[in-house]
Amino acid sequence: MIGRVNHIAIAVPDLDAAEKSYGETLGAQLSSRQALPEHGVTVVFVKLPNTKVELLHPLGAESPIQSFLDKNPSGGMHHICYEVDDILAARDKLLAGGARVLGDGAPKIGAHGKPVLFLHPKDFFGTLIELEQV
Ligand code: CO
Repeated sequence: MIGRVNHIAIAVPDLDAAEKSYGETLGAQLSSRQALPEHGVTVVFVKLPNTKVELLHPLGAESPIQSFLDKNPSGGMHHICYEVDDILAARDKLLAGGARVLGDGAPKIGAHGKPVLFLHPKDFFGTLIELEQV
């Protein structure tokens, strides 16, 4: 069901420092910043030959990233995003298998303008999973 790794997301407490680290120290190509108020984040994509890394920074008072950074003040890996062909079929199969989908279960539009869903980390070995329909 799942396909390629679309991206790996890292929550960062300081977006300027993360851009400098990935852009200069690690010498990667970066996207411009993108504010996603519906998700409570500002994102920057690190473009790699085989995938992307998503740098996540809290946006707004209700950001889900803030509580993660409260527990991990220096930042940390936040989620991994796998591609799926049909997000509603994937969701229904997961729900039928007992996995928990976060929120109301309806896909939201993610950073690439495509539908995304998040799966409960406790159902997947402590890792938050994002599914993106491509
Ligand atoms: Co993501």
